[in-house]
Amino acid sequence: MIERTFVMVKPDGIGRRLLGEVVRRYEAKGLKLIGLKMQVISTALAEQHYAEHRQKAFYSDLVSFITSGPSVQMVWEGPNAIAVIRQLNGATDSQQADRGTIRGDFGMTIRNNIVHASDSTETARREIGLFFDETELMRYPMPDDGWLGA
Ligand code: CMP
Repeated sequence: MIERTFVMVKPDGIGRRLLGEVVRRYEAKGLKLIGLKMQVISTALAEQHYAEHRQKAFYSDLVSFITSGPSVQMVWEGPNAIAVIRQLNGATDSQQADRGTIRGDFGMTIRNNIVHASDSTETARREIGLFFDETELMRYPMPDDGWLGA
């Protein structure tokens, strides 16, 4: 099934000049970029984005970290894009993430884990809606749309 998923390259990923590496890996895999923006997200938006973690001990630290500098928000599309991107990103805790994944290759901690990606279709819909208007999402053909079932 063709899915859309939301990805954020966090302030540590931007600070370490890893944006291009993240985009390159998703493109090389065959995913399609349909939305992209850069901003320092507000505390209010960060709190909405991470609402499910409100009760966790690390919540206030997470909100300060994600708002501490510019981050890049993206929407990627492709067959099973949600699971495919989570596989490319690796486990949340960078130290547990497999080598060959973004977090496994570049991360050292659970908080500074470079990227965030949606974990389900429902989360993807909610997160895309928080950061993008439908008019900001591009519809365009790719040469391999046919063979990918797009
Ligand atoms: P993310 O996929 O953005 O979703 C929630 C984030 O909380 C997670 O990645 C980590 O960056 C962060 N996180 C999860 N567990 C911890 C923890 N124990 N301590 C600090 N940050 C955490």
